[in-house]
Amino acid sequence: MNDRFHEPYRARIFPQLPDLLAAARSAGAHGACLSGSGSAILALTTERTQEVASALARAAQSLNIDGRVVITGLDHCGATLGIDHRRPAVEINTPPLEEVVLRCATCARHFPLERTDYRCTCGKPLDVALDDVGTAMDGHAWRQCFDERLSSLHTVDRSGVWRFRELLLPLPGVAPITRPEGQTNLYPAGRAQQCNGHGRVGEFTGLDRLWLKHEGENPTGSFKDRGMTVGVSVARWLGASAVACASTGNTSASMAAYAAQAGLRAIVLLPQGKVAAGKLSQAIAYDAEIRQVAGDFDRAMVDVERMCLDEGIYLLNSLNPFRILGQQSLAFELLQQFAWDVPDWIVLPAGNLGNTSALGMGLLRAHRLGLVDRLPRIVSVQAAGANPFYQSYLDGFSSFHPVKAHTIATAINIGDPVSYLRAKSVIQATNGLVAQVTDEEILQAKAAVDRVGIGCEPASAASVAGVKQLVSRGVIQSTERVVAVLTGNLLKDPDAIMLAHQATRQTLTGVS
Ligand code: F0G
Repeated sequence: MNDRFHEPYRARIFPQLPDLLAAARSAGAHGACLSGSGSAILALTTERTQEVASALARAAQSLNIDGRVVITGLDHCGATLGIDHRRPAVEINTPPLEEVVLRCATCARHFPLERTDYRCTCGKPLDVALDDVGTAMDGHAWRQCFDERLSSLHTVDRSGVWRFRELLLPLPGVAPITRPEGQTNLYPAGRAQQCNGHGRVGEFTGLDRLWLKHEGENPTGSFKDRGMTVGVSVARWLGASAVACASTGNTSASMAAYAAQAGLRAIVLLPQGKVAAGKLSQAIAYDAEIRQVAGDFDRAMVDVERMCLDEGIYLLNSLNPFRILGQQSLAFELLQQFAWDVPDWIVLPAGNLGNTSALGMGLLRAHRLGLVDRLPRIVSVQAAGANPFYQSYLDGFSSFHPVKAHTIATAINIGDPVSYLRAKSVIQATNGLVAQVTDEEILQAKAAVDRVGIGCEPASAASVAGVKQLVSRGVIQSTERVVAVLTGNLLKDPDAIMLAHQATRQTLTGVS
């Protein structure tokens, strides 16, 4: 533990060395030194091994060192890394940058990746064309790669987004701006799953096997962080100095937080008086410039696109295809939590339709890469007062008419969704369906999720309300395996808590 050969001269070219050695020693290592065989630190422990490993990982991260912590045993040969020779090492090739382009799904025009106007000349949204990425490797090798990362202490591996980085942003040179995000709980909540009080959500919906995927457990309290970590990283990579979005609240909270981390100016356009208190407070706290729009979200969306084009500001709504890419990680993480098995249904709330699109695109890619051998069916649930996607679905998707939106679930109070075309194609490709639920159904479902101690914001409860309705209509069978995505945290919308509470109390009183 006292390296007299290499340390003295190498220490001069390794200025972070004293900090790393101190971190290991103060966490309980008997000693720590520079490894003779390379740029590695060796720490000796007999107990507190995990604490020492974590302290080293944290110190490396705060010193901006791209390192890996490995715990290994000591024998008469010294400390050797155990390599499992039965499994082939996973080698990942990323495509050359110039081969990755933006593509219009409607007219197939291509644009360079650096283009920041994310509408094609035909007016439709652009996607990052990554269809061939990863296909050189089989599903087994990908699963092995992603599963190995679960035991890593490296920040990018711990992120439920960047763990899947080769599939999301295979661009060398993009430095992730990460908290890390994702890694959200998947709560068993079905009647037959022996999950104590959580099983009451299964009773409420009439399902034996139900899981709640709580995206409200992301760093800023909503699923938006998955897309934002990628979107803001790309903004920095492109050299943007300011970013903007229109929002019903969660996007603005997420963007403001990641922009603050990246040192970017953040401008948010919010529909005046229509954003829940928790979300508005976050945008203020994270120091975004807030512009209240006299109108609804759809008006703010039009304004922000115009503003970004006119003023050269980087747009971070889900029109931005990098946000959609980041949100695809929901599909990969969920399947990994299912040990690469597939539930029968995945149900999620829908507003601007970015999340429906991203989940579907992620599932389709996971299937194409052989990560899973079949597809679940997606259900996109809209509020009855903001249901243009549902109406289009009833019409066999042959027409689309924006509506004037009005629902208590402010997050999905959207009448003219930007990602309509993307969402339509994933619903068709996954044999999915679209449902609508009333505000009352939403409040009842919210109360059911809240009172078992999990909790969510009203829009999130639309998924649980949708599940209950589809089970009672016989569309979903009570024995099928269903995941309902909770998109936002309970604390986002404190005003709705009393409303939901009252809604159930009234029903209970009515029943008794
Ligand atoms: N659930 C929550 C909690 C949301 O915040 C949103 C959208 C959705 C569901 C719907 O997702 O738009 O991708 O279909 N919130 C956006 C925002 C619009 O500005 O925060 P979507």
